[in-house]
Amino acid sequence: MGVTDELLKVDGLVVSFATEEGEVEALDGVDLAIREGSFHGLIGETGCGKSVTGRSIIRLLDNNAMIKAGKILYKGEDLLKLSERQMERRIRGNEIAMIFQDPSSSLDPVFNIRSQMAEVVRMYHNARRESYDAIIAEALRSVRLPDVESLMHKYPHQLSGGMKQRVMIAMMLACNPHLLIADEPTTALDVSIQAQFIKVLRELKEELQMTVVYITHDLAVISELCDHVSVMYAGRIVETSAMRELFKNPVHPYAHKLLNSVLGVQTNLDDLAEIPGTVPRLINPPKGCRFHPRCDQATEICGRERPPFVALDDDHHVACHTR
Ligand SMILES: Nc1ncnc2c1ncn2[C@@H]1O[C@H](COP(=O)(O)OP(=O)(O)OP(=O)(O)O)[C@@H](O)[C@H]1O
Ligand code: SF4
Ligand SMILES: [Mg+2]
Repeated sequence: MGVTDELLKVDGLVVSFATEEGEVEALDGVDLAIREGSFHGLIGETGCGKSVTGRSIIRLLDNNAMIKAGKILYKGEDLLKLSERQMERRIRGNEIAMIFQDPSSSLDPVFNIRSQMAEVVRMYHNARRESYDAIIAEALRSVRLPDVESLMHKYPHQLSGGMKQRVMIAMMLACNPHLLIADEPTTALDVSIQAQFIKVLRELKEELQMTVVYITHDLAVISELCDHVSVMYAGRIVETSAMRELFKNPVHPYAHKLLNSVLGVQTNLDDLAEIPGTVPRLINPPKGCRFHPRCDQATEICGRERPPFVALDDDHHVACHTR
């Protein structure tokens, strides 16, 4: 890709998992370029490889994972060449942090705010214990929470939904990473709180100076937060573009179906029923273009050859034989 201000460039990443039934070919050559300072959305149906992509970047994959090919260039350095110790000391937390999809990332009712945030600071900062309170207070202030000294000693049930949400964002900021991978950060939250989360994140976006990869099923969130979007299908990025361009003019047949849905953008990918078929099982996936069994525009070459990921312009890439 011809973009110069890339913070992260994933190049041809192939990841499989060894299972009793056989090898799950989860990532089939993922290409992804993330610009410094951007909010980059990653969308696609369940099982298409979004979380595996995120976990590969921070190198926290399950034990049965095998990275078979590719590069993950972060500030030009291939993270796949670093030792676990180098990842731990130099990259995780300080440079790249990830909010995982599971609900354990939400607040624990048993501990007060200070102790929950101290845990994050301990993991992600090279700070002395005496300075934890100052770091925590600063993070809480940055999300415009009042009276942070007393707030720190409160328990989640003593806070309103909106305050809890701000605390969650503060925890994320306390990691202070350069690149944040947020994997469905709102799935554990109820709908009204989700909306507040997005609102606060949007308010802070300009101030954050953070690059964010935002994984979600929620197209409305993408349209509110993200400037760039990549669409994944069965282990590949099939289209990447500026958000407005992609929503206006999706080129890949899968992206087109996903985004030109009659439901419009105020929707969630889980609600889309009109793409016939399902994401294939990734043990023995379709040859050629993995979308071909579901594609109404497939031609003979589609079942045979994998379409290359090509640039339509500097900012718009697509993997489809007919485009
Ligand atoms: N440890 C594992 N062992 C075997 N297969 C795995 C493992 N982890 C992930 N997979 C498989 O890899 C594929 C991609 O999974 P991934 O979790 O990245 O999907 P996703 O896009 O994040 O889905 P969702 O939207 O549901 O979160 C799936 O087929 C999944 O079953
Ligand atoms: S490569 Fe062929 S099967 Fe795949 S999306 Fe394009 S037209 Fe459809
Ligand atoms: Mg996931």
